[in-house]
Amino acid sequence: MPATLAAAQQEKMLSAARDAFKNAHAPYSNFRVGSAILTESGKLYSGCNVENASYGLTSCAERNAIFAAVAAEGSAMRIRAVAVATERNVPCAPCGACRQVIYEFGPDAVVLFRGQSGTEEMAITKLLPEGFRL
Ligand code: THU
Repeated sequence: MPATLAAAQQEKMLSAARDAFKNAHAPYSNFRVGSAILTESGKLYSGCNVENASYGLTSCAERNAIFAAVAAEGSAMRIRAVAVATERNVPCAPCGACRQVIYEFGPDAVVLFRGQSGTEEMAITKLLPEGFRL
């Protein structure tokens, strides 16, 4: 059962995600995204989206933050929570590919994002039912 986040922790994560989108490389979509990952060890990692002239090579903010966490903590890294923020005040839930990557490292993770009616805190298993495992 995913644990919920205290209000102060939510705000800290969303603030880190907002800081992260400032470094986004998004000249094609102009849609800057930032993400922050809280790991089970209590550390925060952030990432931004990085686009490419060959569009399909684009890497989302969430995956970049997760890969930074793996690089720092190793393969045993586990995600407690993920926050997503964008430059625009529009809904932005993680894409399907990022949901699967979140699930790999955080089957009990909660995800904070802007939904249709404001900030949502949702279990990854609700965003991705029946995630793939080997
Ligand atoms: N994007 C993210 O970084 N995260 C999301 O959750 C949704 C989409 C990026 C990919 C691309 O650079 C831009 O947003 C527009 O799709």
